[in-house]
Amino acid sequence: MQSVKSAPNVSFFTPKQPILGKFVKYLEDSELTSTERTPPLLFTPLKIRSLTIPNRITVSPMCTYSSIDSYPTPFHTVHYGSLSMRGPGLLITECASVCENGKVTCNDLGLWNDSLAKEHYSKIVEFAHSQNCNIGVQLGQFHNKDIVPPIESWSKEQIIDTIKEWGQVCKRATDMAQYDFIEIQASHGHIIDQFISPLWNHRTDEYNGELQDRTRFLFQLVDEIRNNIPKEVPLFIRLPDCDKSEKEGSLTQKDTIKICVELAKHGVDVVDFVCVNPGKLNLRSHKPRLEFLQDLKQILKSKDLSLVVGSPSKISTAKEAEALLQSGLEDIILIGSEFLRNPVLVTEFAYQLGVKITQPVQYSWGFYPSEKYLETSKSAPK
Ligand SMILES: Cc1cc2nc3c(=O)[nH]c(=O)nc-3n(C[C@H](O)[C@H](O)[C@H](O)COP(=O)(O)O)c2cc1C
Repeated sequence: MQSVKSAPNVSFFTPKQPILGKFVKYLEDSELTSTERTPPLLFTPLKIRSLTIPNRITVSPMCTYSSIDSYPTPFHTVHYGSLSMRGPGLLITECASVCENGKVTCNDLGLWNDSLAKEHYSKIVEFAHSQNCNIGVQLGQFHNKDIVPPIESWSKEQIIDTIKEWGQVCKRATDMAQYDFIEIQASHGHIIDQFISPLWNHRTDEYNGELQDRTRFLFQLVDEIRNNIPKEVPLFIRLPDCDKSEKEGSLTQKDTIKICVELAKHGVDVVDFVCVNPGKLNLRSHKPRLEFLQDLKQILKSKDLSLVVGSPSKISTAKEAEALLQSGLEDIILIGSEFLRNPVLVTEFAYQLGVKITQPVQYSWGFYPSEKYLETSKSAPK
């Protein structure tokens, strides 16, 4: 009797998978011609530090409000498990708080102690790794007005302690929870966002003033994180492109580009923009999303710097995603709500582009019945 080979380095048996969501060939090509044509950009691998992603499709972070006492539950196992075995190039979990008071709701995840980190590994990361999925955690610290004083009343010691706490949480996220990368949540009114925005920051010391002062907290934080995580682990950040305000002195897209130039120098690898929709507002020197991304790419290039860039934009078809990559303005495609409607979106996009991709071995029979898909050995089953 043949025995199915097990996925390595996990505590349970599950069949060994190929790299999922990887380009195999165009559906109309024969095996002979399959190596002669380059894949669409959406299914072209990309290397970010030590990670090689098989395709550019990224699950955007989405809160599930399903934690008990900040711990992941079976819901997280099933939710992230079902996404991870469907081959996204990158999977970013919902925002997990770096401290007890930094959650948005009581049912958010937390990652501020070893016990939480171990549960992140056993309930979320271990299964994702058994499927060869690159999984990262979004870490945030929300400003809860009712329980945390405004940042202008924080002492310098508090700021330094907060920065150190972030470093320790990131260390735990990579060492103990074993996430493959980290995304810093610096948008949506989180603490970092508040330091950067002149509309929120009312401090009277070196953490407020010009852009370089308002970003002091951010860069001290980024440096602390980089010093606490392995060199090969990619660091992502989620930033707004500007303040959604007509007020004089609010954060502009030009400011954000300057921040990105410095982030690239401080060891950040990926910038994930939440671009504001100005609606009827007349925002100062505001440009449409793609023009903003074009300015950013040009300035980075002129300074010989590079950042992987993405920005969720209600993508629901492979054609839209491929066009964005072809424009050169985005390198990864972040998708949120469409993954909630269709967890098998990577396969759907592959079909839309006429591409065959690798599938989980348990399901390959359904996709490619004539092929050998399980790795077996002659040893007796356990
Ligand atoms: C249910 C839900 C929860 C979300 N939670 C988060 C979150 O935890 N962190 C975050 O940065 N963005 C969060 N977002 C925003 C998404 O990451 C994404 O930016 C947004 O949905 C736009 O992408 P889409 O048009 O593809 O949905 C959430 C969105 C949804 C729909």
